[in-house]
Formats: sequence, structure tokens, C-alpha cells
Amino acid sequence: MAHTRRPRSLRRSAGLPRRALLRGGIAGGIAVGLSAAGWARAAGANERVRLASIGCGGKGWSDLLDTAASEHAEVAALVDIDETAGHLGQAAEKFPAAERFTDWRRLLDKPQLFDACIVSTPDHMHASPSLAAMHLGKHVQCQKPLTHTVFEARQMRQAAERFGVVTQMGNQIQSHQAYRTAVKLVHDGTIGKVREVHSWQPGGMGWRKVDDRPPGAADVPPTVHWDQWLGVAPARPFQPEIYHPFNWRAWRDFSNGQLGDFGCHILDPVFMALEISAPRTVRAEAEGITPELWAMKSRVVWEFPGTPRTAGPTVTVTWYDGQGHMPTHERLGLAADVPLPGSGSAIIGTEGTLLVPHVAMPYLAPTAKFARFEIPVQEARNHYTSWVDAIRGTDQTTSHFGYSGPLTETVLLGTIAVRHPGRLLTWNAPAFELTGVPHAAELLTKAYRGGWMPAWV
Ligand SMILES: NC(=O)c1ccc[n+]([C@@H]2O[C@H](COP(=O)([O-])OP(=O)(O)OC[C@H]3O[C@@H](n4cnc5c(N)ncnc54)[C@H](O)[C@@H]3O)[C@@H](O)[C@H]2O)c1
Repeated sequence: MAHTRRPRSLRRSAGLPRRALLRGGIAGGIAVGLSAAGWARAAGANERVRLASIGCGGKGWSDLLDTAASEHAEVAALVDIDETAGHLGQAAEKFPAAERFTDWRRLLDKPQLFDACIVSTPDHMHASPSLAAMHLGKHVQCQKPLTHTVFEARQMRQAAERFGVVTQMGNQIQSHQAYRTAVKLVHDGTIGKVREVHSWQPGGMGWRKVDDRPPGAADVPPTVHWDQWLGVAPARPFQPEIYHPFNWRAWRDFSNGQLGDFGCHILDPVFMALEISAPRTVRAEAEGITPELWAMKSRVVWEFPGTPRTAGPTVTVTWYDGQGHMPTHERLGLAADVPLPGSGSAIIGTEGTLLVPHVAMPYLAPTAKFARFEIPVQEARNHYTSWVDAIRGTDQTTSHFGYSGPLTETVLLGTIAVRHPGRLLTWNAPAFELTGVPHAAELLTKAYRGGWMPAWV
């Protein structure tokens, strides 16, 4: 299925509030974001970036605090479908002057209220508010994985380009010393050219509370706006503790399981270090997947075209998830006394192996060979305030959608392979064509609930 054009099923309605477009003065839905360079001229150098937070509990709470920590930002609006203390409540207490909403579409009816928005909702609801905001020329910071489907990830990248807005995905570890140092080590040639990569997240999946959809329906608390929470997803009854908050990760309608949750973190330094972008093929093995729930264990292998950082004309990256599932020392070609990260990557080069723990400093093997090697520790960046600075034209973002879109496409192609275990899928990124297994390409996109069609570019 070619997706260079939006598929027929996606063409019907933009779903973007017409009023929002008109009030914003953006006839026809085409906006040009206030370019970073233009900020000081148009908004005034001392003008602060007015932030809207969409999803202000959970990770959204730290996203909001860390971004609002910028002296150049102020919090103008707060949106959350849950009005209780852990969600909209605490944000409203902290930022009493901010206007409050329980439906992000009503925020977009007031485009004059904000310049930029932070989208920290569950994964199925990243693309809709982000795309709609970009149509209005708003700058967007969106959590990882950037989207729920490959087609949405492509759209996010294209929208950011088309509307000229400043974007950043919330894979904040990219800006830590540890990941920046890992990338530097590979770029310096410390391990020679890269031969292969293995990445793993063998942690438990505590969010999988049940093995099937619970029967019946529970009463929706009056403080929770369940229809807004469902958003683009097919309707289903509310059940406490099963979906909202946090445990939506188990479910295919809302998430992409462990790979979706951690892939855009753990594979990020691999992408940056190897300068890879789109795989040619992907194949997976998986256990425990059901029509509704994600796998309990998976192994995914992507083959990428080689780059100046790799040893051969192609390079493979292998992902492992599921409780205790990780490669052996033998598979990694490492001596038994080399400690393996609890989660992270082994980047295997012609001159050595770089171990990249998920959020800790990288280290090198063979241990004796690198005993006297001094690791060039890189300075951290501020992933959140650098987005505000980029909007004001004084910095640039590193996980802009031009980078994080292709990273997310790759991760989500893995989740399509997980649904076709043992089959080889071939990806033509420029043509947006997935071949090799009948009907697999249908999973590049999904059905959208009536009235919730995103605003495609
Ligand atoms: N970067 C990281 O380290 C990191 C860590 C955790 C989560 N995340 C990401 O952050 C996002 C949120 O995850 P979480 O664990 O905080 O989930 P969560 O369910 O705990 O919190 C989501 C918040 O958004 C609100 N919300 C849900 N739907 C909404 C909607 N349609 N409109 C407005 N508000 C809505 C919820 O009420 C809640 O306050 C996910 O994309 C997740 O992958 C990233």
C-alpha cells in the first residue's frame, strides 16, 4: 500500500475544529509557524513563549515543570481529561493563572492563547493534537514514541516541515551526558566501524493487568472524561486500573507494547551513532500477543543500509524484550566477566564493543584493551528548555520530528513485524511501501473513531 498520498480511508475529514482555523486567521488550514528567527522580531525579544500542556499528569507533569523552568516560558493553558489532583488538579494549583480545559479541541478553538504545546497523552493520542496544533502554526513537544502508527509518524515529520514549527520528541535521555558520550565514542571511531548492534529491555510488564478485556462496564468517575480519553480509538467501556492511567501500555488500541515504550529511548543513541534512518527489512519472533494485547516477549531484527559508520554494506540491529530476555555474552562476543547493562545496547565494532546502558555512562570492551582509555564525557543539554530556546531562535532541537519521525517509523515497523512472526517484511521508506506479507501494510495505519480523524497534511 503506497502512502505517499494519504490513504482513501484517511481522506474524509480533517477533524480539526474549523472554528480554530478561522479564529486563528488561517484560511484553508495552512499556517506558517512563527519561525525561530522571526520570534524576536514578531513577538519581541523579551516576550515569553506561552505554553499549553496537553496531558499534565504522569510524565506530562515533569514535562511541564521542566519546560516551564525556562525563564523564557510561561504556562498559559492546561488540558487533562482527568480533573483529579494527580492530573489537572496539581497543574492548576501550581499554575493558577493558566486557562483549564478537559478537551484539547477546545484549547485549539483559542489559538490566540498559546504559542507552543507539550503533548504528553497516551500514545494513541499523540498525533491528533500535535498535527492539529501544527496546522495552527504552534510549536510542538510530543512524548515518545512520536505516534501510534507509522503513517502518523510520517505525517508528523511532514507537518513540521510544511508549517515550519519547532519540534522535539520527549526522548529526553538523548540530551543526557551518557547517551551523548556514547554517540561521541562511535563517531570518534573508538570501536572502529560498527558490525552489528543488539539492544534489550528485559524488564517486567507490570502494566499488563489482565489477559483479556474485562467483561462489563464500570461507572466512569465524574472527574474523568472517558470519551476524550478514548479519542481516536474505538469505544470501549471504562474499567478502573485497566487503562487509565499508565496501564494503557498493554493494549494494542492505545500503545505499541514494550518496544513502543522503550524503543525510541534505547535505539536513539544507536540511530545517532550509526546515522541510520530507515531499515530495508524487518523480521520478528514474538510470544503472548493477542488480538487486543501486546506480546509478552519479542525479538526484532532490522537490516539497514550501511553508512560511513558501519563496517559493511548493511548493518543489523536486534531488539529483545520480555522478562529476562536479552542476548548472551557469547552472542555478543564478550568475555563472561564483562558486565551487561540491565537494559541498553551493545554496539559491536571492528575494534571493540561499546556497552550503552539505558541511562548510565557507556563503557568499552575488551576491558584490558580499553583499560587506559579516557572516555570523553560530553556535556548534557537541556532537552526541554532547549525547545523553548529554539522557538526563540537561540538554539536548535536535536530530536525534532525530522529525526524522531524516522526513528519512530522504524520502531513501529518492528511492532508490525511482531504481528507477523517469522515473516520477512521489506520497507521502501521513500515510497512508503511495506511488502513481503499480504495485508501487513494495512497496519501502517488504523481506523479512526467517527469525528476524530486527524488533520493530515
Ligand atoms: N520520556 C519518558 O521517559 C517517558 C516516561 C513515561 C511516559 N512517557 C510517555 O508519556 C506519555 C504519557 O505516559 P504516562 O505514563 O504519563 O501516562 P499516564 O496515563 O500516566 O498519564 C497521561 C496523562 O494524560 C492525561 N490524558 C489522557 N488522555 C488525554 C487526552 N486525550 N487529553 C488530555 N489529557 C489526557 C491523563 O489524565 C494523564 O494525566 C506516553 O506517550 C508515554 O510513552 C515518556
